[in-house]
This record gives sequence, structure tokens and C-alpha cells, in this order.
Amino acid sequence: MRILSGIQPSGSLHLGNYFGMMRPVIELQEEGEAFIFIANYHSMTSLFDAEQRRQNTLEVALDFLACGLDPQKAIFFRQSDVPEVTELTWILSSLTPMGLLERCHSYKDKLAQGLAPNHGLFAYPVLMAADILIYDSNVVPVGRDQKQHIEVTRDLATKFNEQYGDTLVIPEPQIRDQVAVVPGIDGQKMSKSYGNTIDIFADEKTVRKRIMSLVMDSRSLDEPKPDADQNLAIQLLKQVAPSEKAAEIEERLRAGGFGYGELKKTLFEYCWDYFAPVREKRAELKGDLGYVREVLKDGALRARAVAQTVLKRVRTACGLE
Ligand code: ADP
Ligand code: TRP
Repeated sequence: MRILSGIQPSGSLHLGNYFGMMRPVIELQEEGEAFIFIANYHSMTSLFDAEQRRQNTLEVALDFLACGLDPQKAIFFRQSDVPEVTELTWILSSLTPMGLLERCHSYKDKLAQGLAPNHGLFAYPVLMAADILIYDSNVVPVGRDQKQHIEVTRDLATKFNEQYGDTLVIPEPQIRDQVAVVPGIDGQKMSKSYGNTIDIFADEKTVRKRIMSLVMDSRSLDEPKPDADQNLAIQLLKQVAPSEKAAEIEERLRAGGFGYGELKKTLFEYCWDYFAPVREKRAELKGDLGYVREVLKDGALRARAVAQTVLKRVRTACGLE
């Protein structure tokens, strides 16, 4: 089984990225051949500062390695080190109906956020489909917001196969229900673009401040809260605390007499402790950037070999060779 996922180097990673995508894909490195890449071509649609891209790419690499990506098990690389993916993008583009892209939520969302509607942003899902198809990926672990892109990928692969004969592997999305959408401090989906994140590697003061500003309702401390499971802090606590502990705290909230201040403090402590080992690991890796660059270089070589084989198959199937 080949597992693949990617993430854009567009800023600091947050709990939504971690529980929605990083942790699932890192766990899967034990079960199959995992390909994990930094989507720096994709970042070109919305980030226009070269040095920032270079810096963010290195930061994301550090984040993943610190969070447990094992380069002995997974193939970890930069998207742009496999330029074959842009050729497959072109080949797929000609099979992509405009309407399919026009229906994509992420494009509409990005325009709504004020991004300029460039062609790259519109064609983003085709590059993503090429990312997935060029490695014969079977499973793609992502958060729910990416599901539609995987559907586009499946559509394009099916179209190619119908047109040119059975060539491309049809991938399956893998979305974990419990973390399909990790909420941010305002209750919307946690996202860089909403400014509602809790970052994995922020300093203690910042993380505390973010957690203390989680939006709660105005019910008094004593009032029972029958909807405790819907509480934002409880939802986040379930990710970072042992399940019995989270259940116990949920029960206390439900019963009444347990205040939101206390609840947030508890969440902060579990959250801070949860990420302590990865913070340490990251600091260690930061002192050895040469190693990080080596990992990416080696990953690129291995990924590229697979991509070249699949692209050759595609070129032959569609009459380019
Ligand atoms: P952002 O919304 O902060 O820009 P990205 O779109 O770069 O995040 O997402 C990177 C990966 O993390 C994707 O696989 C996405 O599904 C996952 N992800 C992002 N935010 C969340 C969230 N709040 N809950 C679950 N998964 C998420
Ligand atoms: N679009 C994804 C995101 O914003 C990143 C990505 C690019 C990706 N190519 C991919 C994810 C291929 C999974 C598979 O999060």
C-alpha cells in the first residue's frame, strides 16, 4: 500500500494540521510505503516571497521530522525536486472540464479570503491530482477540507484511463472522523487564514494566551452543561489528554461547578505537555540543518525514480512516446 500526503509551506503549523494530517500520515508510515512532501509549487499560488518560501520549506521539514516522520520508513521530499509532476499536470489539464474546477470550494474560499484569482489558484486541484497519481498512491490521508480535491483526482484518473487505457491508480481519501475538522479558538475550522490557530511550536506564553482566549458562552460556573461534548475546549482536550482524563473533565463540566477558566488552564497544561517531546526534538534538529537537507535530497531521489516510471507509462499510453 502506498500512502501519500503533502502540505504547503505557507506558515507555522497548527493543531488542525497536526491532528488532521500530520499525525495520521506519520502513523501510516508503519503500515505501508509513505510518501510525504512539501508542496512548494502549490505555495506559489498565494505566497510571492522567495526567501519566505525557502525558509518556510525548511521549517515544515523540521516540523515533520520533529513530529516523528522517520526518513528510514517514509520518503520525505520537496515537491519541486520532482519536476515531472508539472508535466503530468499539463497532461491531466487537457482532460479537466472547466466546470469541475469551477465547483471546487477551496478556490471560492480563497477568493473570498481576498486572494487574487490567478490561474495557478484555479488549476491547483490538477497539480494536486498529478501529485497523487504520479506516485501510484493508494491512500491519501487529509483533513475533510481536502476531500473534494481527492474526488477531482479520482475523476481525472478515471477519465485518463477511459480515454487512454488502464494506466493510473485510483486513490482513496482517508479522513479520520474524530479529527476531520479540528476547531480553532473561535469555533470555526482551525486555519491559518482565519487567524484562529494554536500553533504547535509557539512559545509557552503565546500558547497559553491562545488557549485562554477560546470562545465560551456566558453561562455561570455553577450551571450544569448538558452539551459539554460540544464545548470547544473539551473537543481539543480529547486530542491532547488521555481519553479517561478527557472524559472525566467533560463529566465535571456537564455536572456544573467547573468553570471555563479552570477548563482552559487544564487544556493548556495537557497541550503543552503533549508537545514537549516534539519541541525538544525540533530544537535538536535545528542545530543540524545539514541532516535535514540530506533527508530531503535523499527523499527526492527515491520519489523521482517512482515518478519517472509512472510518467513514462503515461506518456506511452497517451501517445507522447
Ligand atoms: P490551513 O487551513 O491552515 O491553511 P492547510 O490548508 O495548509 O491549512 O492544510 C494542511 C493540511 O492540514 C490538510 O491536509 C488539511 O486537511 C489539514 N487541516 C488543516 N486544518 C485542519 C483542521 N482544522 N482540521 C483538520 N485538518 C486540518
Ligand atoms: N492541497 C493540500 C493542502 O492545502 C496540499 C497538497 C498538495 C496535497 N498536494 C497534495 C495533499 C497531494 C495531499 C495530496 O493541504
